[in-house]
Amino acid sequence: MSRRAGGVLALAGMLAACGQPSAPAGVAGDPARGRLALTQYACHACHQIPGITGSEVYVGPTLKGFATRRIIARNLPSTPENLARWIREPQKIDPHTAMPALGVSEQDAQDMVAYLLTLD
Ligand code: HEC
Repeated sequence: MSRRAGGVLALAGMLAACGQPSAPAGVAGDPARGRLALTQYACHACHQIPGITGSEVYVGPTLKGFATRRIIARNLPSTPENLARWIREPQKIDPHTAMPALGVSEQDAQDMVAYLLTLD
């Protein structure tokens, strides 16, 4: 293959990668599936989530800039494991929280975490 054709292919690959966010290092989930799951469980009914159109009256905190967040739900370190636990069973972490448990599967929670951690 000529060097020129190789360069064009590399560019095409980069453009394709642009549209699909890839999971941050050390995160198991699939961000594209996570984005879909966030709408399926209607998380956007209460949260502003960049990339997902939803209500403009938010009961919960915005999830904008989520990748840069160090602490979630007031005192929980923002690790992928803690995030998935919070999404699945918030009451186990804080019995008084207004965030409902929505019956999110382990896989869906991991995918949501992968998407949320692309939001910087
Ligand atoms: C009925 C409204 C409601 C729905 C639906 C909801 N949440 Fe929440 N969520 C909240 C509230 C309220 C908080 C703040 C809870 C607290 O700090 O105690 C919260 C907190 C969070 C946090 C922590 C944010 C932070 O900055 O501390 C994350 C992450 C989160 N929700 C993700 C989700 C996901 C993912 C879904 C869908 C599976 C979802 N939420 C569905 C109301 C909701």
